[in-house]
Amino acid sequence: MLIDDVTVAFGSLRAVDGLTLRIEYGAVRAIIGPNGAGKTTLLDVITGKTRATSGRVVLDRTTDLTRLGEAAISLAGVGRKFQKPSVFEALTLRQNLALALRSPARGALAEMLHRPGRDELDRIERVLEIIGMAGSGEKLAGILSHGQKQWLEIGMLLMREPRVLLLDEPVAGMSDEETSRTVELVLALRAPDRAVVVIEHDMDFVERIADLVTVLDQGRLLVEGGMSAVKSDPRVVDVYLGR
Ligand SMILES: Nc1ncnc2c1ncn2[C@@H]1O[C@H](COP(=O)(O)OP(=O)(O)O)[C@@H](O)[C@H]1O
Ligand SMILES: [Mg+2]
Repeated sequence: MLIDDVTVAFGSLRAVDGLTLRIEYGAVRAIIGPNGAGKTTLLDVITGKTRATSGRVVLDRTTDLTRLGEAAISLAGVGRKFQKPSVFEALTLRQNLALALRSPARGALAEMLHRPGRDELDRIERVLEIIGMAGSGEKLAGILSHGQKQWLEIGMLLMREPRVLLLDEPVAGMSDEETSRTVELVLALRAPDRAVVVIEHDMDFVERIADLVTVLDQGRLLVEGGMSAVKSDPRVVDVYLGR
C-alpha cells in the first residue's frame, strides 16, 4: 500500500502534512509518535472515515482508496480495530465471527438464523485457533476478559481475510500476560499478502512486533527504520521518547 503525498487539513492545522509512506505486505509496521502527531488521522484517511485534503492512498497499484467510501474500502480488504472492542456480548464467539462476514444492514436477528456453509465453519474454527480461543466457540462474548474481547475483535477482522489490517493501540489496558499473548497474535497475523499496521505507545510491545517502525511528528515522517535504530535516534528521543 502506498500513502502518496497525503495531507489532511483541519482549518489551518495540517494533521497529516504531505506524508508519503510505502507500507509493505508481509510485514508488521508500527507507527509511533507523540500525541497529536497525526497517527489516528492517518488511519481515518486510509479507512475513509476522514477525507484527505490532497494525495492518494493506493492499494494494489490501481485502487485509490481516497476515492471510495468507508464501506467500499472495507470491502476492498481494509480492516480496522478501534481501541474499544465492539463485540456482540449476547452472542457466542462463533456467532460473532460469523457476523463479521455479513452486512450489518441485515440485522443481528436475521444473521443469527442464517446457517453458515462448510467453508465458513472451517474459517471460523481456523480463526478461533489463531486468536487462541479454540474450544471456546460456544461461550458468550459477554463473559470474556477485556483482552479476550480485543482478540475476538481481531478475529472478526480476520474472517474477511484483509489485505490491510490496522490496529489502534491494541494493548492499551492489557495486563503483561495479555500483552505477551497479543505479541504472539500480531506476529501470527503476518501473511505474505497482508500489511499489518499498528499504532501503539507501549515501546516494549512495539519492539517485539515491528519489522519496521515509522515515527510521525506534526503530521510528517520524522524517522523510519528498525526499532533499535529508531530508539537511539536523537530526533526521536527529542520529540517522543525523551518526554
Ligand atoms: N476532527 C478534527 N478536527 C480538528 N482537528 C482534529 C480533528 N481530528 C484530529 N485533529 C487534530 O489533528 C492533530 C492530529 O491528531 P491525531 O491524528 O488524533 O493524532 P495522534 O493520533 O497521533 O495523537 C491533533 O492536533 C488533533 O487535535
Ligand atoms: Mg491517536
